[in-house]
Amino acid sequence: MNKRKQLLAVVVAGSIFAAGGFTARAFQSTPDFGLAVEPFYGEHQNGIEVARQANLSLIAFDIKEGTDRAGVGRMMRVLTSDAALLTQGQGIIGDSQFEMAENPARLTITFGFGFSLFQKIGATQSWPIAQKAIPAYSIDKLEKQWSDGDLLIQVAGDDSISIFHAVHELARDASPFATIRWQQRGFSSAAGVNVGHDPRSLFGQVDGTANAKIGTPEFKERTWSSAPGNFVGGSTMVVRRIRFNFGTWDRLSTNKKDAALGRKLADGSPVSGGELTTPLDLDSKNSDGNYVIPEDAHVRLAFTDKNRGITRRGANYDDNYLADGTHDAGLIFTSFQSELRRFTDIQSALAMVDSLNKWTTPIGSALFIIPTGVAKGDWVGSSLLG
Ligand code: HEM
Repeated sequence: MNKRKQLLAVVVAGSIFAAGGFTARAFQSTPDFGLAVEPFYGEHQNGIEVARQANLSLIAFDIKEGTDRAGVGRMMRVLTSDAALLTQGQGIIGDSQFEMAENPARLTITFGFGFSLFQKIGATQSWPIAQKAIPAYSIDKLEKQWSDGDLLIQVAGDDSISIFHAVHELARDASPFATIRWQQRGFSSAAGVNVGHDPRSLFGQVDGTANAKIGTPEFKERTWSSAPGNFVGGSTMVVRRIRFNFGTWDRLSTNKKDAALGRKLADGSPVSGGELTTPLDLDSKNSDGNYVIPEDAHVRLAFTDKNRGITRRGANYDDNYLADGTHDAGLIFTSFQSELRRFTDIQSALAMVDSLNKWTTPIGSALFIIPTGVAKGDWVGSSLLG
């Protein structure tokens, strides 16, 4: 049944129920999205190996002067306990409005640390990876207001109200120890809007197809650190704020848009043919001898052998029209990878020649390590800073 016929069937079923005196609530056949919960405790932090939620809020903090290693521990103990409650639909101790926690809608809360945190508290020995920052790329026009930070909290879920509430409570509990450096809010398709593929970017492209499926060995390989020591089960997180330049993009033909990406706007399938899930055919050529997936197509340059991939979980952002009439919107690109090298290898290739560079500008960049998950009673980060 196509989408239109399905919709008609639902409308007809609705009128039959209405005629029989059913209430709107009784008619509701969809799951109760509001009550859906994701576990907080576990081997890994939550919010990464979970189907992408509709909304995202990222908040980066800088610790206050005078917050030392023990202070960071106290802060993380409080924030961990807050996150454990909020994600399960419960208000926190001293909650400003606990009713707002009642619909967690798959709320997840994930914590990350920047290298600057370890520097400020004299703990650089405990920083678990070789790289301390993301290299500068020629395409970057970075703004401080979207870059770096000591502590990152990723709050994601299917309901904007529970996200607002969680952010509000977490920020208040962090405030004795840290100040807010930046916040970025993003969105994907709403919960329940399932059209058989990942949500679209604000350029209209189906975005997320090549990610590994949740729960598979490939996902694990791409995402979770297996380096010996106290970072096993952790990850590295990259946040890049990428502004879209819609002016010239809007005027491109669909064929040109498809070629720039290497996948079709219509359904996300490769321009080399097949369906959404058909592998890219990077070798096939047109009769004129050119590659069907052009040499500067985004997916050709971003393509990795499947064991070198990354886990992308970004969201779209829309920060309204600017005074000059341009639409300030784009992509909050986030990726999680077992080793940062996986990201930098791809980004270096893209920075050189990616066709999408003509219509996109990275304006923010940050690197965080994601400590491993915790059991009840423990706090996130204790394995590195405890
Ligand atoms: C500039 C803004 C960007 C846009 C609009 C964008 C959009 C897309 C889209 C629509 C796809 C195809 C569907 C999919 O597999 O998800 C894709 C693939 C991909 N993108 Fe991006 N992307 C952007 C930036 C980046 C960046 C900064 C990276 C990493 C450095 C990246 C890495 C990838 C990877 C690894 C793939 C999968 C390639 C494959 O194996 O088929 N993208 N991107």
